[in-house]
Amino acid sequence: MCGIIGVTGAADAVPILIGALHQLEYRGYDSAGVAMVVDGGVWRARAAGGTNSVSALAELAQDAPTGHAAAIGHTRWATHGAPTAENAHPHIDCTGRIALIHNGIIENHAELRAELVAGGHTLTSATDTEVMAHLIEQGMAGGASLTEATRSMLRRVRGAFSIAAISADEPDTIVAARHSTPLVLGLADGMALLASDVPALIGHTRQVFALADDELAVLTPGALAVTTLDGTPVEPELLTITWDVEAAQKGGYEDFMSKEMHEQPLAVADTLLDRRGAGGELILDEMRLSPDDLRTIDKVFIVACGSSYHAALVAKYAIEHWAKLPAEVDIASEFRYRDPVLNERTLCVGVSQSGETLDTSEAMREAKRLGAKVLVVSNVVDSSMARAADGVLYTRAGPEIGVASTKCHLAQIVALEVLGLYLAQILGTQPVSVTNEILNAMEVLPGLVTEALSRAGEVDQVAAKLTDARDFFFLGRHVGYPVALEGALKLKELAYLRAEGYPAGELKHGPIALIEPGTVVVGIATRNPLWEKMMSNIAEVRSRGATVVLVADDGDEESAAAADHVLWVPPTYPLLAPVVGIVPLQQLAYRLARLHGHDPDRPRNLAKTVTVE
Ligand code: AGP
Repeated sequence: MCGIIGVTGAADAVPILIGALHQLEYRGYDSAGVAMVVDGGVWRARAAGGTNSVSALAELAQDAPTGHAAAIGHTRWATHGAPTAENAHPHIDCTGRIALIHNGIIENHAELRAELVAGGHTLTSATDTEVMAHLIEQGMAGGASLTEATRSMLRRVRGAFSIAAISADEPDTIVAARHSTPLVLGLADGMALLASDVPALIGHTRQVFALADDELAVLTPGALAVTTLDGTPVEPELLTITWDVEAAQKGGYEDFMSKEMHEQPLAVADTLLDRRGAGGELILDEMRLSPDDLRTIDKVFIVACGSSYHAALVAKYAIEHWAKLPAEVDIASEFRYRDPVLNERTLCVGVSQSGETLDTSEAMREAKRLGAKVLVVSNVVDSSMARAADGVLYTRAGPEIGVASTKCHLAQIVALEVLGLYLAQILGTQPVSVTNEILNAMEVLPGLVTEALSRAGEVDQVAAKLTDARDFFFLGRHVGYPVALEGALKLKELAYLRAEGYPAGELKHGPIALIEPGTVVVGIATRNPLWEKMMSNIAEVRSRGATVVLVADDGDEESAAAADHVLWVPPTYPLLAPVVGIVPLQQLAYRLARLHGHDPDRPRNLAKTVTVE
């Protein structure tokens, strides 16, 4: 997820761009850049300053040219290519007369890059985006206008995009378009503006036009014209923004956690994007560990903390079931002190949203010292752990601002299950037909998560009935157990309530002594191979007076009959069920936090990234 801004007709464009980029930093901040048409060419400045890239850019652009010409700006959350200045947007073509910015992922960038290089183009970045600037160059070299060349380019690319392009040949014009990722337009004081999101425009206008999917806009000073991609004129939808900037950064949601819960379908979809080749085979081109490297592996360790650890537990089931490799999961802060047995045939996977958690990064360092191959699954391109690893697999959830992990947790599960399928593909432990069946089921997950999210009202009703409860058990079996752990963690860290995640089959070995009337037991009862045993465990606690809340597959009346309250979810492939099953538990924890007067974005005692032991 990145932030884009454009303006034409401004007396002094660059300060407007910089101010807007600061408002869009919540969408990404690992590098930033601006470009503007001046003196028959394009002026550009780019900076990669860690979390302060926009400020670093502002320093760099202090002597920027002024003038009414078209100007564009971008703040990046890297998905393809390290967060360096060379990979920062705007990207330019070979002539340096065209500049383009992009939010999204171009799936077929590799084949387009090969075609452009074969055609004599010189590309200077490792991004998917740059190919679009060169395709526009090709179109304009053939006599097309910037608008028509952009239209042609958009017919060639596949994926998600909101883009804006400028050309020295048309100094006042910006051409913008979108497919799947947001783009809003505005008019103010003789200017025309575009942005990924309304916070960037609020300082100039509260009347914004929302571009719809597959629409293209041509912006000139004080005017904009919108068509479909094939050129049919359309009247864009006019929105009046009543939010303040902070509310707008939250997309109108009450807090970042709500916004990020609702970004979960996109986080899952983006994490799955461009992972399959033409024949349906899995391609993990950022991995850096070759199939030959991975064929030597005879054991997998997965090491993480918190929600990342719970995602790792799901991965254990998937890797062992699909790749037939022994997979051991460790809490990072324990791993390196327990004298783990690793060698060069061990794959040690570090799972970390931030890529900076000290416990996990030190565990990876120890694994590397012991000779293991280290793979990091992270949400931050080029994070410390990603740089130190032998291989990487990125989640593409975009920045996660809320302290409680939601969209990254789902993206981690999906990325780790893709890894499990990839290992199975390399080791030949699963027929391609099975891998394809599972990948097809994965590609449906965003819709199922959307459906689960839509039931927040039902979850809120259950939460209201549990407001006075103080003692929670979360129980699960098989892959329901990690879901139980994650549900308990969410309740602890958001609502400050005592909640214990436990393997349901283990309760009778002691903890069941704690069950009494008033104890709330949340059971993960989505169908998996141990569902019947799970229901027996639920009967055990219910007979001792527990209030039972079950996460159950739509229509599963057998499970519902054993519950006081049901949190319904759409069914899916058993090993994928955690991706959907955790959603109502996130919502339950969120609602109980609110009912207890707590701010979900700022839970007490916690930090988003823990860089101490
Ligand atoms: C999850 O809601 C917590 N914020 C926390 O447990 C987190 O998952 C853990 O600190 C690991 O962080 P990482 O993924 O950045 O390594």
